[in-house]
Amino acid sequence: MSHSLIDSAVLPRAGDNAFRIGLQLVELHSEEARPRQFEMAGLQWQLLPQVFAPTHTASTVLFTEWLPFPVGGTFLEVGCGAGVTAVVAALQGCSRVTAVDIDPTAVRNTELNAARHGVLDRLRVLRSDLYSAVAADEKFDLVFWNSNVIFAPDDFVYTRGVQRAIFDRSYAAHDRYLREGLGRLTPGGRMFLGFNSLGDAGRLTELVAASGARITERRRATRHAGGAPVTFQLLEVTRSSGSKAA
Ligand SMILES: C[S@@+](CC[C@H](N)C(=O)[O-])C[C@H]1O[C@@H](n2cnc3c(N)ncnc32)[C@H](O)[C@@H]1O
Repeated sequence: MSHSLIDSAVLPRAGDNAFRIGLQLVELHSEEARPRQFEMAGLQWQLLPQVFAPTHTASTVLFTEWLPFPVGGTFLEVGCGAGVTAVVAALQGCSRVTAVDIDPTAVRNTELNAARHGVLDRLRVLRSDLYSAVAADEKFDLVFWNSNVIFAPDDFVYTRGVQRAIFDRSYAAHDRYLREGLGRLTPGGRMFLGFNSLGDAGRLTELVAASGARITERRRATRHAGGAPVTFQLLEVTRSSGSKAA
C-alpha cells in the first residue's frame, strides 16, 4: 500500500524539537565511546570518526531492507556514509554500484567496507556533492539518498563532517537532489528518498512541487531514536503527470 506524502494526515510533524534533536545526534557522534565496528545485515562493518553511525537510528537498516535493488542493474547511492547500503546492494546482485558522499571520511569508510566485503570490482566510491562528480550522461536503474533530513537555517555553519549527515542548510541539497535526480535515471529507472519525521515534510512537499516531481510513500515504520518515536519513510520520486522536468 502506498500513501501520498501530502495526503498523509498521520505523518508526524517535525516540530521545533527537530533542530535540538539534530544537535544531540551530532553530539552522540562525537562521543569517544561510539563503536569503531558494528554489526548490521548479518555483517561486520568498520566505522570511521565523524561518519554517520548507522547504529544510532534505524534509518540505514530499514532503507537497506526496503530498497528494490535491481539485480544485474546499476545503483547510485548519494550520501553513502559508512557504505552499508551500497555494499549490500553489490552483494545482492547490482552489477555496478556508484556510492558518493560529500564527506571525504565517508568516502574512505565506504571504500574500507567495500574492500572488506569483496565488492570493489563492482562498487566505486566518489567524493561528490550530490551528482557533481558523476558524468552527466551516466544513467542509473536506482537512485537513492538517506538524506540529512533536519532543516537548518540559512546562517547555519558546518564545522564538523557529521553535521552534513544530519542538517541540510536551507534544504538546498534536497532541492537539488529532487531537481536533478530524475534526469539521472535509465528508462524504467526508479528514484527514492529516505526521509523521516525529524524532516520538514512541508518544505519537502513544496520543493517536490517546484521541481515538477511527485512523491509517494512506499514504506514506513516507527522506531525509537534517542527516546522519541521517529517515523522512517521510503519515498519514491516520480515525474508528475504533465511535467517537462528533465
Ligand atoms: C543520514 S546520512 C546516511 C549515511 C548512509 N547512507 C547510511 O544510511 O548510513 C547522510 C549522508 O549524506 C551525506 N551528504 C550530505 N550532503 C551531501 C551532498 N551534498 N552530497 C553528497 N553527500 C551528502 C552525508 O555526508 C552523510 O554521509
